Amino acid sequence: MIVLVKVFINGYGNIGRRLASALAVDKEIQLVGVAKYSMDDKVKEALENYYDVYVPKEAISSFKEQGYNVTGSIEEAVDHCDLVVDAAKEGAGYDNKRSFYEPMKKPAIFQGGEERNGNRAVADMIHNSRVNYDRAAGKTYVIQGSCNVSGMGRVMQPLIQQFGDRIKRFDIELVRRWADLEDTKAVKDSIEWDRNPHHQDDVKDFIPNANLYVDAFKVPSRMMHLHQMFVRFSDGVMPTKDAILECFRDEFGVAVIGSAKGTGDVRKKALELGFPHGDTNMVHIHQDILRVQDDTVKIAYSDDQTGMVIPENHLLLQSMVFRRPRDEALKRADNLFQMNKRRKTLEEEFK
Ligand SMILES: NC(=O)c1ccc[n+]([C@@H]2O[C@H](COP(=O)([O-])OP(=O)(O)OC[C@H]3O[C@@H](n4cnc5c(N)ncnc54)[C@H](OP(=O)(O)O)[C@@H]3O)[C@@H](O)[C@H]2O)c1
Repeated sequence: MIVLVKVFINGYGNIGRRLASALAVDKEIQLVGVAKYSMDDKVKEALENYYDVYVPKEAISSFKEQGYNVTGSIEEAVDHCDLVVDAAKEGAGYDNKRSFYEPMKKPAIFQGGEERNGNRAVADMIHNSRVNYDRAAGKTYVIQGSCNVSGMGRVMQPLIQQFGDRIKRFDIELVRRWADLEDTKAVKDSIEWDRNPHHQDDVKDFIPNANLYVDAFKVPSRMMHLHQMFVRFSDGVMPTKDAILECFRDEFGVAVIGSAKGTGDVRKKALELGFPHGDTNMVHIHQDILRVQDDTVKIAYSDDQTGMVIPENHLLLQSMVFRRPRDEALKRADNLFQMNKRRKTLEEEFK
């Protein structure tokens, strides 16, 4: 007998919409509904997708007056669910935890824009399915690492397992997209730096021994992030390019591609192939520019900003709620997201 877990998605932005369409078709999940805070065309979209829509209780009558057939209040939805996937705008997850999840004793998954440390911390761990999946089992509050942090873990961990102490240091130059495709905000013509990128500390939360340094630059693009990773070896015996690529042949959510000229090619291909939301849900190692030079391996990979964390949230839920072994969880995620099939398609398209 299938035991249904009741899940409420608190937030229906770029991430919440994607989580909703994935979780709604998982036969083990009963989607209680999604939360909306603003009265805009996304309410209509959610209702057209047959999701129950919940709004702040003081706003119920205004939504109804505008003809939106909302189901009830955020409190009611939280009360009714077994677990909340919080997909709130950055930082609002903390207030949700204090106002609803803690008083109502509901477990929750938070997204990467929430704090891991300090007085607005929402959880005591950041999940990365490649590294610490098992540690989330039975936890009440966990943060799913952001898209960049998820991608970094997915590429670093296979290298650490293969080469261990021979790796002296990782440096990552993170080239970040300005906005997502659906965002209405303008893309500014500038290259901006981040004085204090959070990614380094976030990765160290799940790979504490990594000697990692991250710099982040935001560029005027909506088409994915690009990471240029420099892996420095200490022993002077350098792996070949093939040996590096071999580490990723069977990795969940890692495609090795060759002929793309830029991140836009990959995003446009995903749209052309009809992938849900135009996402690949993975990282793409660009083997044409992978270089072994002196003591350094240089690996560039693009990271699907909106798609990366969706299977990750699904895996995290399987650890927290079902305490399922990782292999089994990966099979279920693959079944739902068709990751292997889509990886092979991308590898074929960009041979
Ligand atoms: N976009 C990405 O590429 C990406 C990738 C990985 C992780 N993340 C993380 O995922 C989280 C959500 O990002 P996003 O890109 O989906 O943001 P977004 O598109 O700006 O959406 C944020 C959502 O939060 C809702 N909201 C407003 N107040 C809220 C509250 N008090 N509680 C719950 N929801 C509230 C908004 O509702 P209304 O629209 O109704 O006002 C909106 O639907 C952030 O932590 C972000 O760092 C984003």
